[in-house]
Amino acid sequence: MASSHLFSSFSLTLLILIGLASAQLSPNFYASSCPRALSIIRSAVSIAVARERRMGASLLRLHFHDCFVNGCDASILLDDNSTFTGEKTAAPNANSVRGFDVVDTIKSQLESACPGVVSCADILAVAARDSVVALGGSSWTVQLGRRDSTTASLNAANNNLPSPFSDLSALLSAFSNKGFTAKELVALSGSHTIGQARCTIFRSRIYNETNINSAYATSLKANCPSSGGDNNLAGLDASTSTVFDNAYFTNLLNNRGLLHSDQQLFSGGSTDAQVRAYSSNSATFLSDFGNAMIKMGNLSPLTGTSGQIRNNCRKVN
Ligand code: HEM
Ligand SMILES: *[C@@H]1O[C@H](CO)[C@@H](O)[C@H](O)[C@H]1NC(C)=O
Ligand SMILES: *[C@@H]1O[C@H](CO)[C@@H](O)[C@H](O)[C@H]1NC(C)=O
Repeated sequence: MASSHLFSSFSLTLLILIGLASAQLSPNFYASSCPRALSIIRSAVSIAVARERRMGASLLRLHFHDCFVNGCDASILLDDNSTFTGEKTAAPNANSVRGFDVVDTIKSQLESACPGVVSCADILAVAARDSVVALGGSSWTVQLGRRDSTTASLNAANNNLPSPFSDLSALLSAFSNKGFTAKELVALSGSHTIGQARCTIFRSRIYNETNINSAYATSLKANCPSSGGDNNLAGLDASTSTVFDNAYFTNLLNNRGLLHSDQQLFSGGSTDAQVRAYSSNSATFLSDFGNAMIKMGNLSPLTGTSGQIRNNCRKVN
């Protein structure tokens, strides 16, 4: 009796604490402080994607590389200077992440509309969703109210972002370390249905691996020689790399994954069935993807009085 009463008041407290923790972010966070915030971001993303469809992919990836490194706090946006080293030169980011100019444009429009209100971390979260929608994917409701960091961590960026040379077990642990299931790893990897990768990332796969479709490997070699051409690009989705669809998964079934890490999701291991499921049901993929993105966006946000609202996303105030 006594112990079950103790247990239920403990559970109740826990439920209230969980409720408070997730109540810190809300979809209506800017409803009165900056009512035009969401439409400003959406228009700017739509202009940027109309100019270059790949930009939608680049903006989606920025949110991922932000959230997996000490939470969604815009740390990836801080520029290096003579006294500060941020995350931009980390191995997974250097010469690779892009979209900073689009974020600057959005930030300056928001600063004109409502100075000091909308965080850079929230810009990344909304721009990621709007990019997916602009490229034909399904929408989700973005939680808002993140604040911006006053620091960044080169080490954390090097250690927390998964490597394209990883095997399935390492990918599973990288995602499990952030609280994600195998199913969510597969759903989130579906991001590679858009965007591009450099030859230096996929060279060893096309020259040295056997679980790759040979016609596909041959076609990639034309623009990715065995030496040189490191920065030459290929679509991560062999068929439709500017459309947010489920073709990425069908490509994996046909050994047409571009990165070693992509093909690892369908190489006789525990995630094969999920790849098959997403390949045959695009609606399930799109809906699971949105839910996994919401969860990713909830990684350790700064809220309340922690952090700050940067005036310029590249620099601490
Ligand atoms: C599963 C582990 C993952 C690995 C190992 C990985 C690795 C990579 C690599 C190596 C590239 C190409 C970079 C280059 O050549 O410059 C890339 C591109 C990309 N990644 Fe991932 N990624 C992973 C998961 C994700 C997730 C979870 C997302 C988003 C939620 C994502 C979004 C993207 C996008 C959209 C691109 C294309 C970017 C562009 O064209 O600018 N990736 N990824
Ligand atoms: C292929 O593998 C061999 C042996 O591991 C390595 O020496 C070579 O550099 C690899 N080739 C490419 C193009 O990665
Ligand atoms: C260098 O960058 C950091 C982080 O944005 C900032 O706090 C600092 O003021 C910058 N220093 C200079 C000299 O610009």
